[in-house]
Amino acid sequence: MNKYAIPEISENVFWVGSKDWNRRLFDALIPLPQGTSYNAYFVKGTEKTALIDSVNPGFEKELEGKLEQIGNVKELDYLIMNHAEPDHSGSIPYIMSLAPEAVLVTTEKGAKMATMYHNIPEERMMIVKQDDTLDLGGKTFKFIEAPWLHWPETMFTFLEEDRVLFSCDFFGAHTAFGFYDDEVEDLISLAKRYYGEIMMPFKGLALKGLKKAMDLDPLIIAPSHGPVYRNPGRIFDEYKKWTHGQTKEKVIIPYVSMWNSTENMVKTIVETLTSEGIEVCLYNLTNADIGDIARDLVDSRAIVVGTPTLLGGMHPVASHAVNLAKSLRPPFKYAVALSSYGWGGGAINQLQGILKNTKLEIVGAVDVKGPCKEEDFEKIRELGMELARKIKEDTE
Ligand code: FEO
Repeated sequence: MNKYAIPEISENVFWVGSKDWNRRLFDALIPLPQGTSYNAYFVKGTEKTALIDSVNPGFEKELEGKLEQIGNVKELDYLIMNHAEPDHSGSIPYIMSLAPEAVLVTTEKGAKMATMYHNIPEERMMIVKQDDTLDLGGKTFKFIEAPWLHWPETMFTFLEEDRVLFSCDFFGAHTAFGFYDDEVEDLISLAKRYYGEIMMPFKGLALKGLKKAMDLDPLIIAPSHGPVYRNPGRIFDEYKKWTHGQTKEKVIIPYVSMWNSTENMVKTIVETLTSEGIEVCLYNLTNADIGDIARDLVDSRAIVVGTPTLLGGMHPVASHAVNLAKSLRPPFKYAVALSSYGWGGGAINQLQGILKNTKLEIVGAVDVKGPCKEEDFEKIRELGMELARKIKEDTE
């Protein structure tokens, strides 16, 4: 009886990846509520064999076991590295040590990274460029450069006969659950969250990458994290919206409050926006999941930040969230700041400083000493109405 379940996603194309059910953080930053998977694929031609990407360090033995179950790892001919980040390349040195004839196939920048991270000698690398092909015997790979999805060296690999697109991080999702896209109920939410965290900062290149992927007209998309798409149109439709930066009549409101003053301000604008039919995503930053915030930044048209002044500036939890949001380069267009302070302000100035090099229009700010009085709440309601008007009038 076989030790491992090894799905065959197309004829002689096998998933040999690993599921990391227990991982709860990525990049020491992003929560992974459902863990993740490191998808690697083994392709068997009539003449040669290839492994596409590898697995996170710590899963090398599992990968070796899977390769042994369906073939002979010592006879592996090619190891295709679509991306040099260690969650996919980390097991390459181990596999190459087992397979003495195996050659690493990657882009020029990928080769430099393989040297830097893994000391792979030049004579064991094959550099490929846009539209180069590699024939395993009845299984022909075409390589497509896809820079910055998610590092500068990244490429896609397309298996022409089977029309399988190995897109690495692009179209990925962090989840260990399910195997095919139609088996994961909340997949689009997870994929959107992943897009917000990983691809949104490179939106222009993601748009180009999407076009390249769609032009290939794949039957299957096999990314490096999360489910395999046997319905590529499903994720293409979402990526079309996300990479074009399409926003909705939606406001994301990350906030933190120490003595409820800022929270009362935030709740007031939530009521106003909601009564105007605007979708609101409210996140108390003391218990929010940054991945959820990244997801809702993908299509929010505006952001409202609520923060008290603490030690002359923004509450550190709020400044962290705003700096992160700015780094992710979401397509939002409008901002509002709400703040309260006890004796001297400072949060609003700091927030405006962080946002000043963005294209955001700061619609207004309300800064209140102590708890809000009725006239302060009225100012917030007016500001909320102004924000709602701008959001609704913005037809993109
Ligand atoms: Fe999944 Fe950019 O590595």
